Formats: sequence, structure tokens, C-alpha cells
Amino acid sequence: MSKPTFYITTPIYYPSDNLHIGHSYCSTAADTMARFKKQTGYDVFFLTGTDEHGQKIERKAYDAGVTPQAYVDHIVDGIKKLWKLMDVEYDDFIRTTDERHVKSVQKIFKKLHDQGDIYKSEYEGWYCTPCESFWTELQLKEGCCPDCGRPVEKTKEESYFFKLSKYQDWLIDYIKTHPDFIQPPSRTAEMLNNFLIPGLQDLCVSRTSLKWGIPVDFDPKHTVYVWVDALTNYINALGYGSEDDTLYQKYWPADIHLVGKEIVRFHTIIWPIMLHALGLPLPKQVFGHGWLVMGGGKMSKSKGNVVDPVKLCERYSSDAVRYFLMREMPFGSDGEFSNEAMINRINSDLANDLGNLVSRSVAMIEKYFGGVVPAPAEYNDLDKELIEQAQTLWQKVEKSMNDLQFSGALTEIWRLIGKCNKYIDLNTPWVLAKDEAQKPRLGTVMYVLLECARIVAVLIAPTMPRTPERIFAQIGVTDAELKVWDSVKTFGGVKPGSIVKKGEALFPRIDVAKELELLEAERQAAIAAAAKKEELAAPADEEKTVFTQKDLCQFDDFEKIQLVVAKVLKCEKVPKADKLLMSTLKVGDTERIVVSGIAKFYTPEEMVGKKVVLLANLAPRKIRGIESHGMLLCAANADDSKLSLLTVDSDMEDGCEIG
Ligand code: ME8
Repeated sequence: MSKPTFYITTPIYYPSDNLHIGHSYCSTAADTMARFKKQTGYDVFFLTGTDEHGQKIERKAYDAGVTPQAYVDHIVDGIKKLWKLMDVEYDDFIRTTDERHVKSVQKIFKKLHDQGDIYKSEYEGWYCTPCESFWTELQLKEGCCPDCGRPVEKTKEESYFFKLSKYQDWLIDYIKTHPDFIQPPSRTAEMLNNFLIPGLQDLCVSRTSLKWGIPVDFDPKHTVYVWVDALTNYINALGYGSEDDTLYQKYWPADIHLVGKEIVRFHTIIWPIMLHALGLPLPKQVFGHGWLVMGGGKMSKSKGNVVDPVKLCERYSSDAVRYFLMREMPFGSDGEFSNEAMINRINSDLANDLGNLVSRSVAMIEKYFGGVVPAPAEYNDLDKELIEQAQTLWQKVEKSMNDLQFSGALTEIWRLIGKCNKYIDLNTPWVLAKDEAQKPRLGTVMYVLLECARIVAVLIAPTMPRTPERIFAQIGVTDAELKVWDSVKTFGGVKPGSIVKKGEALFPRIDVAKELELLEAERQAAIAAAAKKEELAAPADEEKTVFTQKDLCQFDDFEKIQLVVAKVLKCEKVPKADKLLMSTLKVGDTERIVVSGIAKFYTPEEMVGKKVVLLANLAPRKIRGIESHGMLLCAANADDSKLSLLTVDSDMEDGCEIG
């Protein structure tokens, strides 16, 4: 009989050169769940990847002086290394720049357009670049993005729109009749009350001012909105709509999309409506987990409160970090991260509780039985109570894991570990060992402990994939069938006569004070290094008007450049800036502001009426507090003593394309 399938995804991450421990949280949870499902007999597909398009990446690449593609290629390698270090074992890693993804997005967009769900109009509103989100005036909070609180940008452009409003009632009904679709339940209420019941507006799904993205193939001056592009990764990775859609047929609909709470909105409103419009089934569940916070706020590089998972894994082992992430807070709620809490947990739960159970049991079998596992004699009430707890533990763990309550599952396992350590103290083996007549009793106690350690090793495997083998090696378990899930359902797997072997401490105790001091010093050094990097990367404002692409310009790159004729309507000097003029340009039926370093060569009066050449799709930049939307092309000699604006020599209409 074929195994049941289980498809789990993480969000696809924005490429960043240092993903922090908050990012690792979601991947660790997804990996833990994927391993658990494999362990319990499922055919699992675990997908992760990177979300590489959009204004945010375009600007970062510009700042770094490289092409967006070169920028993301470099970073993706680092992300894959992090997942390897953390034992995040995905089945596929999709990049939104993959051809398979690009082609599918274009097909999906066209299908929705052809069936009338996407239509062309004009967008006028606000855009938050860090969140890549559109907002209406009313939705802004004190003029800023209501999600992240950062400034938004006014946007007005021809756009395609997706008819979200048409599907609003259907979605409300779907969510109400499928209470498991959005988890935890509090997020259902949030989506209904904050977004759906007040009413959905059609969503702007293309941009003309952004080039780093997937072009709409039937209207290439439009780029597909990044969220529409990104969300479809979950089906594109499975080959949806391609020649070979075997994986899609096998695994879709997804069992769980794991996402952070701030992106539940995209996954439970835009994504289900897209799928429904395409006639496809919806994912069975979207689970919105909480944030790892520090000092009360979400970790963010700009606040300097990020923690580097690479450092932690190298220092304490990936299993210890994974254990802490999964144990410390209930999945779904926010939780405060602190080095101190992590080290204390490693010391108390891993070094003391688990480490001691294994090391004491093995040491006593070596001491009292020459390292040979004794056969148990008759079990007394104390034994029976512990055995009952050990052999039914899998049921509690299975229930908690299936509910994504990782912390609950681990708490149950540690309850057994705690009971075992107490069992040692109650039975005082060192006293039993003094009396030869008590040898059978001593053997029983040792056997019970070792078998409990084996059960624990099997049950912790999804969260701590490396530790079980280290335990098995010490307690002398070699048979593969004693390491699998079904083996923990009956007590008595460990074979009398097998040989135990004391090894290194599973988790060495950490000197808390010394370690905290060290970690804090490293954190300060990292903040200082990041600040320095930023300072070096940031050219003076005026310099930023020069495009510093390091790579050769390929034809594709050239094609991205939009040069147009623009007419200068107004022009004035920028206060307290000798070199700068601020021009208001007319480009077809739109107007825009451009700041240029030409004040030494042109007066504002001379500028008005000129038909100039504008690099129109340069990402907007703030120059002396003014947002400049594009660049006027000029010829200048080497020492900048002469400069001449490029103009067109016949009477071309403003808005005409140059190329
Ligand atoms: O949102 N604690 O990407 P992303 C817990 N590309 N989780 C955190 C966290 C923290 N401190 N910081 C980040 C995106 N995360 C989009 C997704 S999916 C079609 C597109 C989580 O790199 C965050 O909640 O900004 C999100 O789930 C994931 O990291 C990726 O965030």
C-alpha cells in the first residue's frame, strides 16, 4: 500500500546576507514537522526557497553596485549553507528567478487575464517597499505602513488589477466553513474582522515602475507584483502547468503552509482567491507562527537586535539551537529570545536532564555489569508506573506534533526524562549494588532506564536529528528496528546482552557568565561591523545619481533601461545645495520630480521648456530629503568642468521612448 502524502512549505525568504535566528525558526519548525511525518510513515515533500524579485532587492543590488541577479545568486548560496548547518533537509529549493517558476507565473497571469479576473486600469495609492505591499490612504497609520511603521511611497501608474472583490463572499464562507484552514484560530478572527468583513478592494498586480521581476508576457512593460509571483512558488515547484506535473498531482494541495504571522494575510486572502480563480484546491492549512522578539521588538538588522544562527550552531551545536527554538515558546505565540534563556535551557534540559540520564545509566551498567545490559527480573509498582508512562508517551507526542505544538511534545518527553532521573534517586542503585542478593533488582532498574533512554532518543529525533545516534551508540542499540517510531509503542526493545559504551558528554555544561560576556562582545562587534559596512556602501547623496554597475551590460540589462523624452515644466534650486536643481518633468500624462547635479551649468530659468532625456526607471532615491524619480542624461568631461544636457533635436512629444 502506498504511503499517505504530506506536503509542507516554509515561506520563500527574501535574500539577505545574514538571515537571523528568527528566520531559522520557521525553517526549523518545518523541518521538524517533515521529519516527524517521515518517521510516522508519510511520504513527505518539504519545500523552501527564495523570493528574489521586487523593489527591495532591486535597490539593495543598486546600492551594492551589482546586477540584481548577481546580488541574489551570491546570497542564495549562503542561505543554503545555513540550512545545511541547521540540518534543514528540504526536498526542493525554489528560486523565483528559476525559469520553471518564471514561465509558470506568466502562464497563470495570462490565464487569469484571459478569463477576466485580471484587468487593466490605473493605480494611485501608497506602496511600502520593505513589505512590498500596497495601501490606501485610509489604511496608513500616521502616514506610514500599518504593518511595519516605515514610510510609504506615493505611486501612480498604469496597472493590472486582480478581482479580489469578486471572490470576497466566497472566501468568507470558505473560512467560516473550514475552521482548520487558518491556524491558530485567533488569526482567523483577525483576517475576517480586519480585512474580509470590511471589504476587499481589487489588488494591483503589476507595476511599470519596477523592472526587477517577471514581465507580463503579453504586455512586457508591466512586471508582475512580487506577492503574486511569490505565492505561486508552492505549486510551481511541483511542476503545476508544466509538461511533467507528477509531483503536483501527487502532493497538491499542501497540508501546511508555515508562515510568520505578518504574512498570514497574503496566504489566506490573495493566495486562496488566486487558487480558486484558477480552479485549483486550496492548501489544507495555513499556520501563522509568532515572532522571536528581542527587547520586546521583532528582530531586525536595522535595530541591531539580531542573533546570528551560524554562530550559535557552531558554538552549541545545531541540535541544541533547534531544541531551544522548538521548546522555548508555544508555536503560534511570540517569544523573547535571550542568550541567557538559551544557555540556561541547554544546561538544565540537555546537559543535566538528558545528558545525566544517559551518562549515569551507561556508567552504572559499566560499573556494576561490566558494560553488558542486564535482563530485567520482575517489575514492581514503581517500575510499572514508569514503563506505562514510557510506552504511552508516543501518543501524547504524536498528538502535540500533529497540532504543531512542538513545545508541548518536548515538554512531555522531558517529563519522562525527569521521572527517570527521579527513579534513579528513588531506587538508589549504588545501595543495591552493595548487596549481591539485590543484583536482579539492580539489573531491572538499569534495564528500565536504558529502555527509557532509547524511547526518548527515538522521540526527540525530529527536533534533534543528530543526538539519537549519539545516544544509541552509548546505550548499545544497533538494530535499525529499535530506532523507528513503531518501536516505542511497546516497552522492552533494548536487548539484554548488548554492550554499552560511555562516550563524550552529549551536551557539555556551559559556564553561563563567561559565555554571556563573550556573546555580548561578539554582538557589539557585529553591530559595529554592520554600521561600518553601511557607511562604506553609502556614497554621498549626489554621487548616488551615478549608476555604478560593475558587471558588463548584457543586452538583457540594456533592455531593462527605459529612456524617455521629458519636458521640464518647473525648475528650482535645492536649498543649501550648490550643485542641485530640482526639476518637475512632464512625461506623457504623468509628472515627476528629478534632482540633478547640474546647477553650475544651468539656471532654473534655462531649464524650463527643455525636452530632455530621462532615465525613467531608475529606482527612486532621496537626495537632500527630496525623492528623485529618475536621472537626466548629460555629457560631462573628465574633471566635470563642462557639462551638457542631452536633449532631442526635433520636436518630439514628451513621453516618447528612446531606444
Ligand atoms: O516574508 N521571528 O520573506 P522574509 C519569527 N518573502 N519569524 C520570523 C522573524 C522573527 N523574528 N523574522 C522573520 C517574506 N521571520 C516573503 C515570503 S512567501 C510566498 C513570501 C519569518 O524573508 C517571517 O515571519 O521577510 C516569514 O515567515 C519568514 O521569516 C520569511 O520572511
